[in-house]
Amino acid sequence: MVFGHGKVILLGEHGVVHGRPALAIAVERGAEAHARRSEGDATTLHIAPWDVTVDDGPTDDPAVALLQRALRLATGLYADEQRAHLEVTMRLPAGAGMGSSAALGVAVLRALDEVRDLTRDDAEIYERSLAWERIFHGNPSGVDNAMATWGGVALFRRGRPLERVLPATPIRIVAAFSGASSSTAEAVASVARQLAGDPARVGRLFDDMEALVLAGRRALEAGALSELGRLMTANHALLQALSLSTPALDDMIAAAMAAGALGAKVTGAGGGGCMIALTDSDLGHTRVTEAMRTLGRDVYDVRAGTDRSG
Ligand code: PMV
Repeated sequence: MVFGHGKVILLGEHGVVHGRPALAIAVERGAEAHARRSEGDATTLHIAPWDVTVDDGPTDDPAVALLQRALRLATGLYADEQRAHLEVTMRLPAGAGMGSSAALGVAVLRALDEVRDLTRDDAEIYERSLAWERIFHGNPSGVDNAMATWGGVALFRRGRPLERVLPATPIRIVAAFSGASSSTAEAVASVARQLAGDPARVGRLFDDMEALVLAGRRALEAGALSELGRLMTANHALLQALSLSTPALDDMIAAAMAAGALGAKVTGAGGGGCMIALTDSDLGHTRVTEAMRTLGRDVYDVRAGTDRSG
């Protein structure tokens, strides 16, 4: 079995597309892939529990067509004619800001190597998965792919080596899905339009975001959870200023804060998807989880340890 992690962005989404830093935490959940050699005409992929099958045949489903393109790109990286069947189990919601397409890409690329008895280093998996991600998102920063590949907690900056962050205390986050999926490509394009229309305003928002990310790193390393929570809530205000929140997400964030979260924000592309709330005790975690369930939301538990394996 091979694996690609999901992730949540603690601070800095969208700015990271434009060269600013972001702080991210890989989640235990992700994409698990098993591969076996096949004698068929094409390499095929089945994704549970979505019950999506990707083969070489014609399809009217745009999501399957994108997956077909991505799978062709991935198999086209090999000079041989080896066919395979890949069984993937996705333990992340799609279109929810938890990096499902990057997790899937990393798992598929590792599985295609595994079936050939190849071991490739992570840096190469990361580069290959960026090409996969471009099919879905056009202009990915690479943060999802880096976290899917390496896991752990990290500060990411486009085109730079991943900087590991070692939290001084365990991190526990409640991630909750608003029920509306979001399109990362559309959200990224909307921010690009806002930046082109008013570079001074959006540049200032990105400056503020960068300061929050750098302060967030220090807070993680110092175990200053209340400070980290405050920075997350401040980041949410910047995302609201870019029209990336929704009434449903704002209601969830208000409910999480009322239930005792230290901070809460949209995570990932926004315009739908998930919010994350930072908690600092079992009781706080349970209360925030219950508040989300009362709103009828699906909840995902995100933890990061104090060691380098995240
Ligand atoms: O919504 P997701 O999981 O695809 O996260 C996107 C994060 C962005 O910063 C909005 C885009 C990117 O490529 O970094």
